[in-house]
Amino acid sequence: MALTAHSTIGEWLEDPTGGELVRGLLAQSGADPESLTHVLGLPLQQLVTLSQGQMPQSVVDDLVRAANGGEIPEATEATGWVEQITPGRFTGKTVIVTGAASGIGKATASRIAREGGRVIASDIAAEKLDVLKSEFPDVITVAGDLTRQDAIDAVLAAAGDQVDALANVAGINDDFSPAGETTDAVWDRVIAINLTAPFKLMRAVLPLMEKAGRGSILNVSSEAGLRGNASGNAYTASKHGIIGVTKSAAFMYGPKGIRVNSVAPGGVATGIPMPPQMSEAGSARLAPFQQAIPSLATAEHLAASITFLLSDDAVNINGAVLASDGGWSVQ
Ligand SMILES: NC(=O)c1ccc[n+]([C@@H]2O[C@H](COP(=O)([O-])OP(=O)(O)OC[C@H]3O[C@@H](n4cnc5c(N)ncnc54)[C@H](O)[C@@H]3O)[C@@H](O)[C@H]2O)c1
Repeated sequence: MALTAHSTIGEWLEDPTGGELVRGLLAQSGADPESLTHVLGLPLQQLVTLSQGQMPQSVVDDLVRAANGGEIPEATEATGWVEQITPGRFTGKTVIVTGAASGIGKATASRIAREGGRVIASDIAAEKLDVLKSEFPDVITVAGDLTRQDAIDAVLAAAGDQVDALANVAGINDDFSPAGETTDAVWDRVIAINLTAPFKLMRAVLPLMEKAGRGSILNVSSEAGLRGNASGNAYTASKHGIIGVTKSAAFMYGPKGIRVNSVAPGGVATGIPMPPQMSEAGSARLAPFQQAIPSLATAEHLAASITFLLSDDAVNINGAVLASDGGWSVQ
């Protein structure tokens, strides 16, 4: 079968021509071939996202041409997992998605829109939200920093009187610092975005859901919400904290018909930025444990888990923390 951008990186490496091309590219850029260990099951196309802008689309296109005698072959059937939408699963539902301009939030917003939902897409990155809007003109976009109450008010105003579901996805990384090194600036920003903002959005939508007697909330945590060796002090605290907020609300509001759940992603190929100054000591201590990630997921893999828990398919699930991590958490 022809190698395409949808063939997995593993398939490229196994193919004599494809393997030579990919290894040549890595050698050219000085990258370690070991760096592909966790991404063998992902489509080659994901290298563009993973490289955080270092590898433009043209490099992937050139690889595909080089492997196919100068031509880009007609799209063939993808060999790996393919997202299957459930038509109408969110029809009639208004769903707020934060972090919707990029990565997991964008994949979630896109899937809900394609499954019939009215999406209120919120993010601080106005230009990237415009791209989402160009792809899904019916999506309502609200640009703003969710650490500010006025941004939360604007999201609620755009949603109107009915909010059926809320997906708190927006988040940032920390600098891998251990507690003894964490600055006030890192702590305050990470807690503000990853913990306080999702709580405030929940606080804003819960009265509407209580009035309706139904609703569904999904808070994105992380592997770092399940253990102490996946990130730094501030991020780990924020992601454990959001699980606490999830469980408390699930308990308090379950009897009122409102379900509150969490998804804990493992490694995901989204290009989520790392701060420019990383802690040397923290990075060194974490490195061997991060090497143990079984595989990286795509944003669409996570959207599948998130939309399941948000949707009525999860009718009997409340207060759950779903590890969506390829099995990392059982190691
Ligand atoms: N990528 C991973 O490996 C991974 C692993 C575990 C958990 N997560 C979590 O998944 C969530 C999504 O991450 P992603 O990988 O898609 O990252 P991403 O950077 O692609 O997307 C996060 C989005 O949040 C937005 N955002 C950041 N600060 C904001 C603010 N103050 N107000 C409004 N929007 C803001 C960003 O602009 C961005 O569009 C985060 O909560 C992250 O902690 C990611």
